[in-house]
Amino acid sequence: MNNDRQLANIALIGFMGTGKTSVGRLVAEQLRFEYLDTDEVIQAETGRTITEIFTTDGEPAFRALEEKVVKELAVRKQTVIATGGGLPVNPENLTSLKAHSLVVCLWSSPEKIWERVRHQSHRPLLHDKNPQAKIRELLAAREPFYKQADVLLNTDLRSLREVAQQVVHQFRLESSGRR
Ligand code: S3P
Repeated sequence: MNNDRQLANIALIGFMGTGKTSVGRLVAEQLRFEYLDTDEVIQAETGRTITEIFTTDGEPAFRALEEKVVKELAVRKQTVIATGGGLPVNPENLTSLKAHSLVVCLWSSPEKIWERVRHQSHRPLLHDKNPQAKIRELLAAREPFYKQADVLLNTDLRSLREVAQQVVHQFRLESSGRR
């Protein structure tokens, strides 16, 4: 990794249902960092839910809000940032996050993702006739973007607590000597 980078934060990227929120909260607790979720910021700033934004204004409007929020994150320190699953598809977002964060991707199989999301209804992209096929299709299309993370962790094989421990370990390793 480029030694000029300032690793002030941790950004968690990855598909819906890979555990970003749970892992992010655990990591923040352990490091005594603040926890922030880009979807929550968008909802707070607009006063609308993600589903409302998708339904009324469409996905491109949501992506523009995401990009704006990512730019605002540049001033952050000691924050664990959980990101929306589609955010790294915009290369500007990934470049921007990498300027101040260790970018960790949580990876899961489509089967495990389906298991985790099937009883939830707040994700407009999965309001589909065949959500399982949609998961496979989106995951395949996004894989090259997720793989640009600094660290890739499979969350199928470990508990979320173990994954959080790995994230903390990688962050300590990568940030030692840089601060
Ligand atoms: C999306 C993932 C969601 C949310 C929006 C779009 C995506 O976030 O940003 O529904 O494109 O994968 P989570 O990954 O936190 O579910």
